[in-house]
Amino acid sequence: MEKEQETRRMLLKNFDAILDAMHDDLLISDDRGEVLRVSPSFEDVYGIKKEYAIGRTVYDLEEEGFFKPSIIAKVIESGKKRTMPQLTNRDRKVIVTATPVFDEQGKLQLVVSFSRDITELIDLQDQYSQLENKIEQYTETINKLRQQVSLEEGVISHSRTMAGILETIGRVADFDANILFLGPSGVGKTMLAKTVHQHSKRKAGPFIDINCAAIPENLLESELFGYEKGSFTGAGAKGKVGLIELANGGTLLLDEISELPLSLQAKLLKTIQDKVITRIGGTKEIKVDFRLITASNRKLEEFAEQGMFRKDLYYRLNVIQIQIPPLKERKDDIIPLVEHFIAKSNEKYGLHKTFHPRALEALLNYSWPGNVRELSNIVERTAMTSEGNVIRQDALPLEALRHPSAAPAEIDNLTKAVEDFEGNIIRDAYETYGNSVEVGKALGISQATAYRKITKYVKNE
Ligand SMILES: Nc1ncnc2c1ncn2[C@@H]1O[C@H](COP(=O)(O)OP(=O)(O)OP(=O)(O)O)[C@@H](O)[C@H]1O
Ligand SMILES: [Mg+2]
Repeated sequence: MEKEQETRRMLLKNFDAILDAMHDDLLISDDRGEVLRVSPSFEDVYGIKKEYAIGRTVYDLEEEGFFKPSIIAKVIESGKKRTMPQLTNRDRKVIVTATPVFDEQGKLQLVVSFSRDITELIDLQDQYSQLENKIEQYTETINKLRQQVSLEEGVISHSRTMAGILETIGRVADFDANILFLGPSGVGKTMLAKTVHQHSKRKAGPFIDINCAAIPENLLESELFGYEKGSFTGAGAKGKVGLIELANGGTLLLDEISELPLSLQAKLLKTIQDKVITRIGGTKEIKVDFRLITASNRKLEEFAEQGMFRKDLYYRLNVIQIQIPPLKERKDDIIPLVEHFIAKSNEKYGLHKTFHPRALEALLNYSWPGNVRELSNIVERTAMTSEGNVIRQDALPLEALRHPSAAPAEIDNLTKAVEDFEGNIIRDAYETYGNSVEVGKALGISQATAYRKITKYVKNE
């Protein structure tokens, strides 16, 4: 017994010399968990003075809160080598490995535990993932900006209504007040929202355009507000920046705002009021600074009256309301828009197309249910599909454009309607064939009748 004690003492003495030379944290205990030796750096990581630790058991130290859990206790219990993370009394994160040492009879003698401080590593990892997040945010902003049509496109505003709207925009652009654009689809709400942004002091910041109806309802919240990593099933491993956060420093356009579910309306209201957002699954509030523009082709006020849209939110959005009437109610814009879009198509496709006055007239009298968007599509399509440089009425791609007066809604006097209808046919035929003989043949009437009608409808104008 005495010899055994002596050997042990010798052993520990040698240990001391080795331990003092070490920079790592080491703790040696006997088979009952009593601390025999610790390395000098142990105090820095665990906050336990060497003199205090030696002689106590790891069970005492665990209970006093110096580390949790005690790995040595587990090794004593299992007799096996263990590795595990530990949080120390000094808020250090460490990885500890404890190894049992047995004597020749296989009886546990010592446990040697070795820990490595990974606090800095984890902090670095945090910084790294924050940087990664930032890069992701910038990349997304850049992509978003790239997708958007050039902001320099001119807004055609020949009608008094549109000129007035542009004047209003010019006046309010610089104030940060919320703007609500109302009007049917394709009248130019999105375009005008961009114009506001362009003329505001935020023009160097991003312009983020979100169509609330285009994003599935179950994704809308995470798209708008973002989420922290692992906050819900299906959430990405890295978390995601919300679109509202992306609008920081710039303008946020929420299009088709009437489609925002009531639950998100409450969240948006809070965001507008407090200018902060909280990502899904997150706890910290993130400051966001943006100018809010909303747009809707529904009667938002009626929605609010009927309880389908929060009234308090409606009042917040409706600080400046700009109504854009349908194209048919501002006919003065039609021809300038046609000229604008044909010039664009000519440039884009290297063409030299112009519209025949008769074709222009048809375009002017059409009802344009799809407003400017429809007009722009039709002009571009016709530019590509028509033959020759002059686009005639019969080259227009809609039945209603080729025979405008046939539209029953326009008829209020039968004789005049019949004459309009006949006049269009005669004019088209004369433009195509150029003389009464051919017009007569084409329309199945005598040359004399054709001549009379040409005189009446074409030459008499
Ligand atoms: N006054 C205008 N001058 C030139 N182009 C215009 C004008 N108004 C609209 N446009 C063009 O017409 C198209 C449709 O406009 P925009 O997308 O702004 O309509 P919207 O009202 O936002 O439609 P929606 O309700 O479907 O969102 C766009 O290509 C836009 O550039
Ligand atoms: Mg739009």
